[in-house]
Amino acid sequence: MRKIVIAGNWKMFKTQAESLEFLQGFMPSLEHTPEDREVVLCVPYTDLYQLSKNLHGSRIQLGAQNVHWEDSGAYTGEISGEMLAEIGTRYVIVGHSERRQYFGETNETVNKRLLAAQKYALTPILCVGETKQQRDVGEIESTVTKQLKQGLVGVDQENLVIAYEPIWAIGTGDTCEAVEANRVIGLIRSQLSNPKVSIQYGGSVKPNNIDEIMAQPEIDGALVGGASLEPDSFAQLVNYK
Ligand code: 13P
Repeated sequence: MRKIVIAGNWKMFKTQAESLEFLQGFMPSLEHTPEDREVVLCVPYTDLYQLSKNLHGSRIQLGAQNVHWEDSGAYTGEISGEMLAEIGTRYVIVGHSERRQYFGETNETVNKRLLAAQKYALTPILCVGETKQQRDVGEIESTVTKQLKQGLVGVDQENLVIAYEPIWAIGTGDTCEAVEANRVIGLIRSQLSNPKVSIQYGGSVKPNNIDEIMAQPEIDGALVGGASLEPDSFAQLVNYK
């Protein structure tokens, strides 16, 4: 059985005070969430410690949004796997398209970050996906294949989650058709050595489309931006039918 992982990616949203307010509103809705669903919040660095203290004993797992490949050193603005693990972080997003687009992330640096995350027993969530232009010219498969091939060199597929996030669907309200997302995710799975890796879909996942997305046989969860910021909408996502 593949694990179902519903993860919120808060991106650069929420102060500590706002993160605690979210928690208060969100926690009660987990009462009826099926046990076999992993619920993850990938939050800004400044929220990690505060949430870690407040999540103690709860079923919500804490995630970060990036990790550097060195253990320590002169890398201004970066954070190490050891620092994240020390405060109870369990997941870390690696290679999000916003990192690739705005901060020069490449498949090579993504690979180094994945290895560093695993060194500290963090579960990396590797993001892959094509641009609108790549989709239009029929380069979905080749783009995703290259991201996987170069990103996964030496990576342990026993401790890995992948998120298929077509870039044109992120923050646009333009969700990828569930059947099409299922097709690409099947293709991703066919390139893995471990068929049990959980593969999420991400890109404008909302309460009104989560049921259809999660009904697809290849899709094992969701990586959610905007709709993870409000307790009510994230609650509807983790409690999908
Ligand atoms: P949205 O859900 O806001 O489209 O963001 C998706 C995303 O980038 C999650 O990592």
